[in-house]
Amino acid sequence: MALPHSLADRVPADPADVQLFRVDERQLEALMTVVRAGFDPQFGEAWSAQQIAGTLGEANSFARLAQVASAAAGFTLCRSAGGEVELLLIAVTPAVRGRGIGRLLLDTACADARARGAEEIFLEVRENNMAARRLYARAGFAEVGRRRDYYAGSAGMRYAALTMRRLLAG
Ligand SMILES: CC(C)(COP(=O)(O)OP(=O)(O)OC[C@H]1O[C@@H](n2cnc3c(N)ncnc32)[C@H](O)[C@@H]1OP(=O)(O)O)[C@@H](O)C(=O)NCCC(=O)NCCS
Repeated sequence: MALPHSLADRVPADPADVQLFRVDERQLEALMTVVRAGFDPQFGEAWSAQQIAGTLGEANSFARLAQVASAAAGFTLCRSAGGEVELLLIAVTPAVRGRGIGRLLLDTACADARARGAEEIFLEVRENNMAARRLYARAGFAEVGRRRDYYAGSAGMRYAALTMRRLLAG
């Protein structure tokens, strides 16, 4: 499977033109293209290539890459443990946000988690990341915890992490 690594100035003519692939370490560069474009550097949330490669190399991790017009457009990275899955990362390239790709990736991660026997999926989100919070809430995640001052922002700002959970059984 050939995976181009940049959007190359291509915006999809048709939002339905999205494909999701299971990926592993071999598609690291495609994931890093999305990471570099997708995370605001002021919050230091972007994982390094080494961190992502290390996680992809773990037997209990799984990831999906979204492509639009054959270019990397988003991804999810998850890890399972016991009956739970943790969504570690989700990002969509800015040029194709707001077209349902994040929701498609999230729902697919939940389906993948369920297929692995997980009964619930957890994630952590910075309290002021309103786009992500709304995405999660619309997808059926509920807040189950709060970790004060968990994330660092610029100029010494701190932000809480909200722990959210979606039940998968049923
Ligand atoms: C969060 C993110 C993945 C959403 O991706 P997306 O493809 O734009 O999301 P979708 O188009 O599927 O939108 C799904 C829902 O999210 C909400 N949403 C998305 N972007 C939003 C925004 N900018 N403001 C408010 N709500 C937003 C909407 O409620 C939308 O549902 P609706 O259209 O039915 O109302 C994307 O903004 C992103 O990559 N952000 C940077 C990385 C990040 O913060 N990841 C999360 C922490 S790891």
